[in-house]
Amino acid sequence: MIVARTRAVRLLAGASVLALLAACRSSPEVREFTNSYPTEATPVGVTREFALTAAPATVTLFDGRPLQVWAYNQQVPGPVLRVRLGETVRATLTNRLPQPTTIHWHGVRVPNAMDGVPGVTQPPVQPGDSFVYEFTPKDAGTFWFHPHLRSSEQVERGLFGVLIVEDLAPRPYSQDVLWVLDDWLLTSEGEIFPQFNTRHDLAHDGRWGNVVTVNGRTREQLVVKAGERIRLRLLNVANGRVFRPDFSGLDAKVIAVDGMYAARPLDPAGFELAPGNRLDLDITVAADRGGQRVVVTDRFTQRPIPLAEVIVADAVVATPDFASPARAHVPVWGNTQELTTRAEYRLDARRGGPFGIQWTINGEAYDHADHGAPPHNVQTLPYGEWSKLRFANDSFRLHPMHIHGQFFKVLARNGARVEEPFWRDTVLLHAKETVEVGLVPQDRGRWMLHCHILEHAESGMMTLVEVRD
Ligand code: C2O
Ligand code: CU
Repeated sequence: MIVARTRAVRLLAGASVLALLAACRSSPEVREFTNSYPTEATPVGVTREFALTAAPATVTLFDGRPLQVWAYNQQVPGPVLRVRLGETVRATLTNRLPQPTTIHWHGVRVPNAMDGVPGVTQPPVQPGDSFVYEFTPKDAGTFWFHPHLRSSEQVERGLFGVLIVEDLAPRPYSQDVLWVLDDWLLTSEGEIFPQFNTRHDLAHDGRWGNVVTVNGRTREQLVVKAGERIRLRLLNVANGRVFRPDFSGLDAKVIAVDGMYAARPLDPAGFELAPGNRLDLDITVAADRGGQRVVVTDRFTQRPIPLAEVIVADAVVATPDFASPARAHVPVWGNTQELTTRAEYRLDARRGGPFGIQWTINGEAYDHADHGAPPHNVQTLPYGEWSKLRFANDSFRLHPMHIHGQFFKVLARNGARVEEPFWRDTVLLHAKETVEVGLVPQDRGRWMLHCHILEHAESGMMTLVEVRD
């Protein structure tokens, strides 16, 4: 016993010496990255099983009308899977759709084989078949899952769900609330508009709906008590729509972006939620607000859209008192202008392809579902080393660029340095904009890099990066 322990101690000591040596050899950027987030998961030996059946369903949305959708477990918005950090997720997907599907765990750092990309990490799950996804999340936060096959149709029809990974010691918020932001393009009969990937959608910012919903409702209400402290998790599952929620009138601070805690609490003004993005807020309802109502409004477009109403009940409760969880270590990476760019991604469109318009990255349209060859420019990102990537939008459309399996930090916009004290997995590029990001890949394998406007992705705006030693 003692011998075994000594050996274990010696092994551990050896390992940390190696880590130390590696750290000394590494670049200043990698050293600054240290302690940003864990390299490995820490499983606690508890497995949480979930069954997710993707199938056509009828649900009641939009204040009472029935709607034919495709859904996981007949639910829109989809099931909310809640686990504690360190618990293992085992989710069995059963496909009862009329077409193949997969599940991608957006923002979750999973082993590559669990990433749900057909043609890259797994075969498509055919109708009638099942697939078991198993992984232990490395990070606590707000994540989501959705199909990665014909996603412009499957997500639009209602296939998405939420994965909430709770902290080891969750803060004692009065309420933990989720708002799933979405929009729906409905026909005059109130059905989901049945043509997908239309020329119009492709020539614009994807498919934007005519009904905007929060949690499937056009008038979502959140009832709170004066004094309460709320954790509000926002998630944009729309195909193309970007939201800029206005929280004025509420004492709200952003504590996490794309699942990961920020370095400090941030003012939510001006934050944009592109498709795929999440934002967690820490809201304290002042004790003197009893009886008041605050409407949270989307201000991304010219026409303000009311999203939801916060109704403050008269009862007053004591405000839970604890430090903001937003205190992550996020590197500054200040001298990035001089550091070389590992890859540049030029984003543009051209005529052609099955939909008449193709969206391209460096002149190439790629779809992993084409069972074809990989894209020509699979960029290698060295494992554990710092890389800078540049996205250059040569078009006038929006492109929320998403990288699977990694978090990155925005370093510059249009050549000017920006200091975002948080990580992202998706960054929105506006017309003609250039964005530079820095990252230290922590998971080996072939990972998607694509636009999260699902029509843009579907018509070619995808590529792969390969993380290896
Ligand atoms: Cu939510 Cu490949 O993305
Ligand atoms: Cu795009």
